[in-house]
Amino acid sequence: MSKSQKIQITWSVDDVYSFRPDLTEEQAFEVLQNVKDSHDADIGVCWEARYLELINSYEKKQQPFFPEMLALLVAGLDEKVHTTGPEDILGAIYHDMEFHNVYKGQYFTPQHVSDMMAKISFREDDQTIKENGYISVCEPTCGSGVMITSFCKAMKDAGYNYCNQLVVTAIDIDIKCVHMAYLQLSLYGVPAVVIHGNSLTLESWSRWYTPVYMLNGWVYLKILARKSLNK
Ligand SMILES: C[S@@+](CC[C@H](N)C(=O)[O-])C[C@H]1O[C@@H](n2cnc3c(N)ncnc32)[C@H](O)[C@@H]1O
Repeated sequence: MSKSQKIQITWSVDDVYSFRPDLTEEQAFEVLQNVKDSHDADIGVCWEARYLELINSYEKKQQPFFPEMLALLVAGLDEKVHTTGPEDILGAIYHDMEFHNVYKGQYFTPQHVSDMMAKISFREDDQTIKENGYISVCEPTCGSGVMITSFCKAMKDAGYNYCNQLVVTAIDIDIKCVHMAYLQLSLYGVPAVVIHGNSLTLESWSRWYTPVYMLNGWVYLKILARKSLNK
């Protein structure tokens, strides 16, 4: 390998067992295959290197704005959680600053309209949650994630915990939308995978797993749920 100036990393079922010793060999191998399918060579190598590459593309005097903006976002989302319930902050800013791309149909749903739609579509006596303990939601054109935040709000209002009774798959063709949805869903503690991809052609270019998605073990749980559905 060193002669051809390439490196190769090999993962085995033992690596899966170090996290989930309870899986059968067949299940552990399925997890490995899933990892292979979801692996993103661009960002999978080192987040730190990607961060340094990005931050160093800004002037020194601009760099402190980023942690400041993150702190403001955290404070804003925190206030929402404790007052209205989860809401989309970044989408409104994106529109107000006219960053939206009309050629990709980027007209985001206003929060109150989205809230009403979530109230209509989520049933308080949801059978799926009663039977399985959670509900899964797919948003194929998520934008900044407003419809997901509304769904979380509807669940919260009905007395459910969206941090462990919901799992989300969100997709957008525009990486800026993926970033917005990923940030907000991560900070709200929603288990979600946000896919940078095309919902029509089923192409996908990168996958972004929220921390709670990883902590709650959804990578494994979804595989096991799919397996039991196929039985
Ligand atoms: C009308 S906006 C709606 C966003 C969000 N669902 C809402 O209600 O505010 C449509 C979104 O779909 C994305 N989009 C357009 N074509 C897509 C495709 N083929 N696959 C995935 N996303 C797509 C756009 O980038 C945009 O963010």
